[in-house]
Amino acid sequence: MPKTPSRGIGTPIDRNIALELVRVTEGAAMAAAPYMGRNRKNDADGAAVDSMRRSLNFVDMDGIVVIGEGEKDEAPMLYIGEQVGNGNAPKVDVAVDPIDGTRLVARGLPGGIATVSLAERGSMFYTHIPYMEKLIVGPKAARVIDITDTVKNNLRRIAKAEDRHIEDLTVVVLDRPRHDTLLEEIRSAGARVKLIMDGDVAAGVMAAMEHRTGIDVLMGIGGAPEAVLAACAIKCIGGSMQGRLWLRDEDQAVLVKEGKTAGQVLQLADLVNGDNVFFAATGITDGELLEGVRFLEDNRCRTQSLVMRSHSGTIRYVEAEHSLAKLRLRREEAEQEGPLAVRMESDAAPGMPG
Ligand code: FBP
Repeated sequence: MPKTPSRGIGTPIDRNIALELVRVTEGAAMAAAPYMGRNRKNDADGAAVDSMRRSLNFVDMDGIVVIGEGEKDEAPMLYIGEQVGNGNAPKVDVAVDPIDGTRLVARGLPGGIATVSLAERGSMFYTHIPYMEKLIVGPKAARVIDITDTVKNNLRRIAKAEDRHIEDLTVVVLDRPRHDTLLEEIRSAGARVKLIMDGDVAAGVMAAMEHRTGIDVLMGIGGAPEAVLAACAIKCIGGSMQGRLWLRDEDQAVLVKEGKTAGQVLQLADLVNGDNVFFAATGITDGELLEGVRFLEDNRCRTQSLVMRSHSGTIRYVEAEHSLAKLRLRREEAEQEGPLAVRMESDAAPGMPG
């Protein structure tokens, strides 16, 4: 099949690929959902990764995984550097987290999501350093945050920008011992705290969405890959984010190797550049951002997803009902007929929501 000519960096991607991505996250969420609360973290993750990889390859794009499951040697699929998509334009960077909150899904706790982002090739931040300090707010406070300043000063300015009192702000923080001092600072400034066990992509999205979610600020140290995914969402929502790599002793050598500087403040545009950013997420377990997968009568299930595009600023909630029996049948038929049949199932990719 002839390839569409490739486009220049910065040219608006002329379709909302996030609408195709949502089928990818729906598939991953449906694959992981049967493992909810069954204490089988790896099985849940494996099912979501497998589904996501299969369905990403039906998306009309020439993608390279920039944020993935790890390096090729340690991750058989969706590893960093892996090519995904059907090879047609546009050329994009792809960030995947088949499950953000694997532990939440394994324990049957709220907030597990499947998520994918796309942006123009070369526009996503990449590092081998696993952790990043993050500060995320919504549009009104976008210009007043400064991750190098004290917690209290930041909260004071955020409250002022939003015409509220510090006492009215809710700050979401991952529940980790490394945050003891941060928590003391937030509490002594007078703000409210919401601790979460895992899942700071969804929490970051909620912070950027301002009053729609009851969370105003995200602070603290979480995964660096998750920071890039959250940054993609924030590009679409219009809030702001700053980050700083958080170094453990063993990360010093990596920092030097990557030519990065300790303490360097990463702005939203450093985490993901350009205005062609797409974000999709589907709930696996019920959460405050998204409802989880619901299994219904007649072998059907319902999913709820969030689909966003930075260029237009459109934020969609997509509710879908899927026939599990038909999806399974289509996939089995195509697998029996071989790769060509799989490829020809262009609209309703086998095993992928239609
Ligand atoms: P996984 O589901 O990929 O394990 O990530 C869960 C998560 O809570 C992220 O949302 C967060 O950024 C990261 O882990 C924090 O890392 P750690 O658990 O090591 O503090």
